Amino acid sequence: MNNPILLDLPMPIKTPRLVLRHPMPGDGKILNSSIQASFAELTQWMPWAEKMPSERESELFCREDYAKWILREDLTLFLFFGSQLIGGTGLHRMNWSVPSFEIGYWLRTDVSKQGFMTEAVNAVTRYAFEVLKAKRLEIKCDSDNIQSKKIPERLGFQYEGTLHQNDFKCHGQGLRDTLIYSRINSQGLPDIDVKWGSAFLEM
Ligand SMILES: CC(C)(COP(=O)(O)OP(=O)(O)OC[C@H]1O[C@@H](n2cnc3c(N)ncnc32)[C@H](O)[C@@H]1OP(=O)(O)O)[C@@H](O)C(=O)NCCC(=O)NCCS
Repeated sequence: MNNPILLDLPMPIKTPRLVLRHPMPGDGKILNSSIQASFAELTQWMPWAEKMPSERESELFCREDYAKWILREDLTLFLFFGSQLIGGTGLHRMNWSVPSFEIGYWLRTDVSKQGFMTEAVNAVTRYAFEVLKAKRLEIKCDSDNIQSKKIPERLGFQYEGTLHQNDFKCHGQGLRDTLIYSRINSQGLPDIDVKWGSAFLEM
């Protein structure tokens, strides 16, 4: 593949209920309040949620991830429901020469169990295959993370196997098993209306 910095990545991504876009300077405050509202859950599963960040640290994260988006080093996406930032997903740990990506996700606890993350990951999967010409997408999760593993299962990702005791649970709670799910195309994804780019915003 050519230098990925030259790839055009149309934004935002629009699903029936959500708008997804990369982090921007100024997002730190709403990001921080979503993390705060969900910290008890996030700290169990997300390596980055060891301690509650300050608002300033969240703003720094947004600016660094905006820079990484432009450099195509990491493709974080925030989920907006109206003006509310309700979670994050994205295409991470990429190998541009394949190209392959790992999808990660987290949601505000108070909006869980409404299908928002399933909707977002469906859209990101379509975006990766159609815009980024991905050849492989992976979702990895702790085998004890029941809500997380249901997402790839609901979206028809293939279970490839379990890596036994391959890593530590978050924040020193012993060893974990990691489940690996993948897709090599978008066939059979649940139907959903997804658009990207600014054109639809003008309609
Ligand atoms: C993982 C995580 C994002 C899953 O959140 P979630 O709310 O279960 O996922 P969704 O938003 O897709 O909602 C799915 C649930 O909503 C229900 N639902 C309601 N309306 C729905 C709709 N229109 N479409 C799909 N599902 C719907 C589903 O039945 C499902 O409920 P169930 O699990 O009881 O079967 C969330 O638990 C989280 O943020 N955890 C902490 C961070 C984390 O673990 N991240 C993953 C690390 S690998």
